[in-house]
Amino acid sequence: ESGSYGLDGHPDFMRKEMAEQPEAVRRALRGRLDTRFATAHLGGLDLDPVALRSVRRVKFLGCGSAYYAGQIGAGLVESLARIPADAEPASEFRYRNPVVDPDTLYVAVSQSGETLDTLAAVQELRRKGGRVIGAVNVVGSAIARECGSGVFLHAGPEISVASTKAVTTMGVSFAMLALLLGRVRDLSAAAGARVVAGLQALPERIEAALALDDEIAGIASRYASARHMFFLGRVSGWPVAREGAQKLKEVSYVHAEAYQAAELKHGPIALIDKDMPSVVIVPDDDIVVKNVSTMEQIRARGGPVIAVTTVDLPAGVADEVVRVPRGEAVLDPLVLGIPLQLLAYHTAAALGRDIDKPRNLAKSVTVE
Ligand code: G6P
Repeated sequence: ESGSYGLDGHPDFMRKEMAEQPEAVRRALRGRLDTRFATAHLGGLDLDPVALRSVRRVKFLGCGSAYYAGQIGAGLVESLARIPADAEPASEFRYRNPVVDPDTLYVAVSQSGETLDTLAAVQELRRKGGRVIGAVNVVGSAIARECGSGVFLHAGPEISVASTKAVTTMGVSFAMLALLLGRVRDLSAAAGARVVAGLQALPERIEAALALDDEIAGIASRYASARHMFFLGRVSGWPVAREGAQKLKEVSYVHAEAYQAAELKHGPIALIDKDMPSVVIVPDDDIVVKNVSTMEQIRARGGPVIAVTTVDLPAGVADEVVRVPRGEAVLDPLVLGIPLQLLAYHTAAALGRDIDKPRNLAKSVTVE
């Protein structure tokens, strides 16, 4: 499958594919941004402005990282298009006899395009007359064919079991979809232009996040002995936390649990002590002070805090601060995921794990 796609001097595919993200994002954006009308063109979508305007709800369906990326997508659609949106694991959707709503746009999210649960969800939707598009990386894959229309991710081949560049290009595709849905509704040209500019600047922001490599390797070595970790975030930071926890579990086998930061005090805070580090995601949004108080509450109970943020935090609020460059704030979830990939990678490396072939996992799950 990989053909001539080799390691090119990288120690493993996860490392190579993380490094390829700026280029993957450029490819995903190529020819799709319209600076004149401050919108996006998604040629594979097959929805004219009338059809786009008739969408009353958007639901993202996928498994694993594709599901978490879908949750980021739902947040982008709600912010930019002001349409109710959510994400659900494709497996749950297919088994719970869902009400299929003709005014909903369903988005099937999959890197491989072969994940059985996602394919079955698409087939169920089509049987019941649902409008479903794909957000798929592999052209000609089963899900891409079954959907018939959608957005190709253009991430390039992904070999590492832990998905990195595919997840990032999922987020980019959903930002463009959200922009397009917004611009046939209430999103102003000026606000649309900010998103277009933010997307154009994204490869450089990702480049800068990747340049934090040494710093994050240092953090990983300091915390690699932890048996458990929390990943905490609010609103747009919450799916980033979920994906960060997933990545750490997949490649390092360290137990990681993601929580909405405000839910911590409703139970899990009982676990906080000096051996339970928390990674707190702090995007550039209206609730930075809430995340700061979460960090204070954790530290007051002796828990180490690693902040991953795009804003300037008050001095001394965290034991470690990973600061990613600021930019268009609505796109922060796409940038804040990068340091978490590096944290998972370096933790796995410090623990001597087989990074490209984690135990018990397959790159795509094509069986029940
Ligand atoms: C498997 C992989 C995950 C991946 C999920 C969805 O469980 O181990 O890393 O996120 O499948 O894969 P897909 O190809 O549908 O995105």
